[in-house]
Amino acid sequence: MDVYEAVDSRRAVRVFSDEPIPREALERVLAAATRAPSSGNLQPWHVYVVGGEQLAELKRRATARALAGDPGDEREYPMYPAGLTSPYLDRFSAAAAQRYKALGIERDDPDRPMKIAALNSEAFGAPVVLFCYLDRTMGPGQWADAGMYVQTVMLLLRAEGLHSCPQVMWTMYRKTVSQMVGADDGLVLFCGVSVGFEKEGVPRLRTGRADMAETVSFLGV
Ligand SMILES: Cc1cc2nc3c(=O)[nH]c(=O)nc-3n(C[C@H](O)[C@H](O)[C@H](O)COP(=O)(O)O)c2cc1C
Repeated sequence: MDVYEAVDSRRAVRVFSDEPIPREALERVLAAATRAPSSGNLQPWHVYVVGGEQLAELKRRATARALAGDPGDEREYPMYPAGLTSPYLDRFSAAAAQRYKALGIERDDPDRPMKIAALNSEAFGAPVVLFCYLDRTMGPGQWADAGMYVQTVMLLLRAEGLHSCPQVMWTMYRKTVSQMVGADDGLVLFCGVSVGFEKEGVPRLRTGRADMAETVSFLGV
């Protein structure tokens, strides 16, 4: 698979099959992803790869919280700025509507937040979740590094025939996650990345994008 194909075929998949993932495939991906760039080569991330009974237990605990309407742990970083404005708010709203309609959750469903949280806490059925942490002392530059690292992992997963869904929603249950994986207070959970094979026969959601001209300016090229 070439890079263009990996980028084009990566989507946030939200219906995984329970087909197990060979550990060697995960090791190949994570070993290759060590080549991801980072400012000053700090490599500020730490990843916990969780599957099997440990993930089943974590899903049980997180889903119990979601179904109880638990608003989640106090967030350690804001995922979005307060007062999101156009065009970002429009893009956000369009993607959110499309995303959960595809999963059968209507906009006016009073249980929408709880259903969304519960689908996320089940990792959409994925058999493995990668929990990506950062050292708490790191700043915005290193958060950008962590994003590049996660995208590198997600593209490499495509080369193994695997799909993924990055999930900030796991930060709602960060205390439960950290307790399960044994992450100490020196680490901040950036996101979880659900990993697995896509379930067959499920409609594929291809989220729209702004035209390149809206986000790219060429100067002297
Ligand atoms: C850092 C990050 C966190 C995300 N968190 C969630 C999440 O909690 N739940 C979810 O369903 N999707 C999540 N997404 C997926 C985005 O909704 C998705 O990438 C975006 O809508 C574009 O769609 P696509 O990835 O399918 O092209 C996240 C993506 C990123 C990069």
